[in-house]
Amino acid sequence: MATNADKKFPDGFLWGSSTSAYQVEGGIVNTDWNEAARQGILPDPGRADDHYHLFEKDFDIAVELGHNAHRFSIEWARIEPEEGVFDERAIEHYKLVFDALEKRHLTPAVTLWHFTVPLWFDKSGGFLRKDAATIFSRYCEYVLDKLGNRSKMWMTMNEPMIWTQNAYFNGNWPPFHNDLVDYLRVINVLAAAHKKVYQYVQAKKMPIQLGVAKNNMYFDSNRSPFNRMLVWFLDWFWNRRFLNKIKGHQDFIALNQYFYKRFGEPRPILPRSDMGWEVYPRSLYLCLMELKRYNLPVYVMENGIADAADTKRAAFIKEATMWAHKALEDGVPLKGYFYWSLLDNFEWDKGFDKRFGLVEVQYDTMKRIIRPSALVFKEICQGNALFI
Ligand code: FCB
Repeated sequence: MATNADKKFPDGFLWGSSTSAYQVEGGIVNTDWNEAARQGILPDPGRADDHYHLFEKDFDIAVELGHNAHRFSIEWARIEPEEGVFDERAIEHYKLVFDALEKRHLTPAVTLWHFTVPLWFDKSGGFLRKDAATIFSRYCEYVLDKLGNRSKMWMTMNEPMIWTQNAYFNGNWPPFHNDLVDYLRVINVLAAAHKKVYQYVQAKKMPIQLGVAKNNMYFDSNRSPFNRMLVWFLDWFWNRRFLNKIKGHQDFIALNQYFYKRFGEPRPILPRSDMGWEVYPRSLYLCLMELKRYNLPVYVMENGIADAADTKRAAFIKEATMWAHKALEDGVPLKGYFYWSLLDNFEWDKGFDKRFGLVEVQYDTMKRIIRPSALVFKEICQGNALFI
């Protein structure tokens, strides 16, 4: 395998990994997802990774793995357990999280809402409530007032298109709607909610950068006119439409990238991850190049592979970061790369079997075991190597 050790990422480039509260913290009991778990419709995260108690240890591991940044999310249901009632103790907890990151020189990137909503919000109509955008931005404003000075980089929400698709179109995540009208409406509500928060940050002149973590896919086709039209439509609907709706209301673009979708034959057979997803790291490059048009700094906020045996992860990371570097060379203002995920964790409707972690978690003992691929990523983070 050839190395490209002469090709460096710029100084100040952020290297880290991503997590989200419901997937790692444990002990969250009052969300829409918990209710579905109680009804036996979805798996129960229970203690998850017990990261709520073990975050200091986990951040020690991130440092040991050469990271200089870390992305995590704040759990809305902890902060606002009842409508309009805010819990100062939850803020205190996240202050300790920020302290722990600061102490270790890990630059934080924070998501305010990553898929789970408080049960009271869900029960009262969720994002179909007339005042949903106001309710959502009130929560965000509360957190930003209390904690905004602890991080420069904030995201209001994670993957609005993936979430609405699963929650309102496919109906396999709470609130389990299967309705095109609701789906399209909620997308608009989320865009409006984000813009409201952005305006608040501007009005208050908060010295932070605000964005949205956006899942983009690379759609590819053979030459058939129908497939080409389909790809044009999907590109517009899935990749660009939400970003256009919030145009002028974001300071950076956070890209979550996992998927490469091809239409038409013949198609080369690609390897698959434990999720059954096709593994094609070049799609990261293709998606990054499509973001040039926005003229904003770009961060890869999620990119990763479920691979319990750890036989594919190292090659995936080498290739993905090689493509990230190529995007930089080709003019994408890329500022950081966050691997999903630091730890194995609770993978939504799939439960605990799918293992995305740089670090294996043994759930019976909560023991953390560093995977060999994490050390390959470490070399890349530390600028010692860039591989193809
Ligand atoms: C993304 C989610 C993240 C994780 C990965 C595998 O869509 O943002 O929480 O589940 O997929």
